[in-house]
Amino acid sequence: MSKVDVVLGSFYGDEGKGKIIDYLGGRADVALRATGGNNAGHSIEVDGEKFVFHLIPSGILNKGTLAIIGNGVVIDPKVLIEEINTLKNKGKDVSNLRISTKAHLIFPYHIDMDKLLEENRGDGKIGTTARGIGPCYCDKYERCGIRVEDLYSDKFGDLVRRNVDDKNKIFALYNKPLYDADLIIKEYQEYANLLKEYVCDTVNLIHKLLQEDKKIICEGAQATLLDIDHGSYPYVTSSNPTIGGIISGSGLNTKDIGEVYGVMKAYSSRVGEGPYVTELTNQVGDKIRELGHEYGATTKRPRRCGYLDLVALRYAILVNGITALCLNHLDTIGKLDTIKLCIAYEYQGTKTEEFTTNEKILRESKPIYEEFKGNFGDLSQIRNRKDLPKNALKYIERIEEYVQIPIKFIGVGASREEMIIE
Ligand code: IMP
Repeated sequence: MSKVDVVLGSFYGDEGKGKIIDYLGGRADVALRATGGNNAGHSIEVDGEKFVFHLIPSGILNKGTLAIIGNGVVIDPKVLIEEINTLKNKGKDVSNLRISTKAHLIFPYHIDMDKLLEENRGDGKIGTTARGIGPCYCDKYERCGIRVEDLYSDKFGDLVRRNVDDKNKIFALYNKPLYDADLIIKEYQEYANLLKEYVCDTVNLIHKLLQEDKKIICEGAQATLLDIDHGSYPYVTSSNPTIGGIISGSGLNTKDIGEVYGVMKAYSSRVGEGPYVTELTNQVGDKIRELGHEYGATTKRPRRCGYLDLVALRYAILVNGITALCLNHLDTIGKLDTIKLCIAYEYQGTKTEEFTTNEKILRESKPIYEEFKGNFGDLSQIRNRKDLPKNALKYIERIEEYVQIPIKFIGVGASREEMIIE
């Protein structure tokens, strides 16, 4: 392991980052989350018990691992406390949790604003998770946001009152219920007491740990094509789930970063709206959804499914500096008779291998596919790449040849053991 290794989603999220994070986290001293909020969700199964994480880095399950929620995360304290309590009730130790003083807080008015904005978008809706993520980041960049450290300051009441006054004016315009600042202040002061023991200056902590030669694993949330700058805007989330967000959302610097793992599935999926070149709105797409259990961990929404898109993958590699790939669900795609791999787009009669996030181009591009034989059979017991059936090998070797990046992890089943590690 390098000083800092990073795990990022390569496409539209839900690539199965949790499984890789779980494996790498077992070797790290620190698990770090730097972006997003409880719009993310990953489930991990340990000894037959299922854990769903929305905010806390899942590395906390490994005894002794410090779990840090960095400054770039937006925190709904109610959700965080529920998550802490769930872990405690399952007998897990959470004393190793650390929360950045600089992380911004989600308030109930952010959640209602998220819903109101979606309502107003009509046909142009983004399909957000309705967790208040966008409005909270809006306040951060507008510089009226309220941070974790404000919970413990004399200014807290005034900050909430000012925000509630402003937001109520908008809610009044739309005949929506108004907020009572005093109730929010009281509720959040209770949260402040419950969270106090975990709150600290995580930037200085991280650098102290690095000086002590501790190993850090950064648990990316969401994914490259949902990035506010590099994704398919406006159908994106409101943060930078790419490598830049890891740096700004934690206080790490580039010098310490070693491997950047790009996680992907052997097919692709997307939740929410927005263009998706390899989407299959037919029986094959439905079959992939059922075989891969493609329903959201956070919202339970059915995911849109399609074939793997190597044009988009190459873009994710460029934007993030991905050094190794983790390919999940090889077993799932291997259940189809025929598999397709998108190796180029056709746009207005011209073939291109260059990815752009321009909405019109993405919507009008048609995938150009190469075909592979499926029916891989049962892969669940395979732990060495050389033991994979010929058809499966052909498929993964073509991916590596196209992007010129090695696949170091191959998921061959749902459990954490069902993985080929190179
Ligand atoms: P928001 O992050 O709730 O504002 O949602 C913006 C877009 O990002 C929507 O299309 C969501 O479905 C998508 N999104 C947000 N978080 C995740 C995630 O963890 N996995 C997959 N999609 C996500």
